[in-house]
Amino acid sequence: MTKHAHFLKLLDFTPAEIQEFIDTAADLKAKKKARIPHDTLKGKNVALIFEKTSTRTRCAFEVAAHDLGMGVTYLDPTGSQIGKKESIADTARVLGRMYDGIEYRGFGQEIVEELAKYAGVPVFNGLTNEFHPTQILADFLTVQEHFGHLKGIKLVYMGDARYNMGNSLMVGCAKMGMHFVACAPEKYFPDAALIAACQAIASETGAILEFIEDPAQAVKDADVIYTDVWVSMGEPDEVWAERLHDLLPYQVNDALMAKAKKETVFMHCLPAFHDLGTGIGRQISEKYGLNELEVTNSVFESPRSIVFDEAENRMHTIKAVMALLMQD
Ligand code: CP
Ligand code: NVA
Repeated sequence: MTKHAHFLKLLDFTPAEIQEFIDTAADLKAKKKARIPHDTLKGKNVALIFEKTSTRTRCAFEVAAHDLGMGVTYLDPTGSQIGKKESIADTARVLGRMYDGIEYRGFGQEIVEELAKYAGVPVFNGLTNEFHPTQILADFLTVQEHFGHLKGIKLVYMGDARYNMGNSLMVGCAKMGMHFVACAPEKYFPDAALIAACQAIASETGAILEFIEDPAQAVKDADVIYTDVWVSMGEPDEVWAERLHDLLPYQVNDALMAKAKKETVFMHCLPAFHDLGTGIGRQISEKYGLNELEVTNSVFESPRSIVFDEAENRMHTIKAVMALLMQD
């Protein structure tokens, strides 16, 4: 692993490096469970910039940083000058003088790339519109724990596959020699240039990448059925009507799970709209009469759902990223 490298997208890492992040996370998870201290970054500090909201990613970075012995500063979506009164380049140079690492969650991938260009310390992508790479490490640790390996695992992604989760899962699967299927109407398939880049990677790793519109065909023999929200953070409310119309046939429900194998697991990066326990969920219910969106409550709450293992693994994998990239 290259010391002090940035963690901006999985395209920047080799399969061996991605495996090292995952295996290091498994090791750190075992240490945490056994209460073995692992404060290898004692005396360092990390800044967490969130231009979009978060529960998992923020808490994962904070707990991981504390376990590694670091100090943490959280900058919330309204609590900094970034982009409004101070440019990304200037912010990067200021924070780079005070901190040993910077996490950024926000909008365009070009913003986190710009931050990295000027910071002089490792920058970690905590989600952009295009990529969510720390999530994929957590997902793959979870798959490895569940199935014992990554290579050859068939992961079917249902829904909006051209946004951060679909893109990043496709890249991750290509890198790790997995079988990735994007299942959606064609206009929701990932960008053609990214597909081409991933096909080139797949030709080296033995991965299979498929883009299928028919859900029954897509989930045949799936090991993992994965979905994400149909409208992502930062998108306007006006897109809901079209998304509900286009993506309801791609909802992960009992009928779809029954078309896969009995061992097939359900995964979701969370947060999820699976009941009326959220404000947005209730608004959609009142307006469109739908009480469950990308996944039904029965699938979400079923024994095949491993979503909370994924959520826990956000912390162990983010810890591995900081431990490996911030060490001297
Ligand atoms: N999965 C994920 O990134 O969750 P948060 O938005 O809560 O960080
Ligand atoms: N696609 C979602 C992922 C949330 C973790 C979003 O960007 O809002």
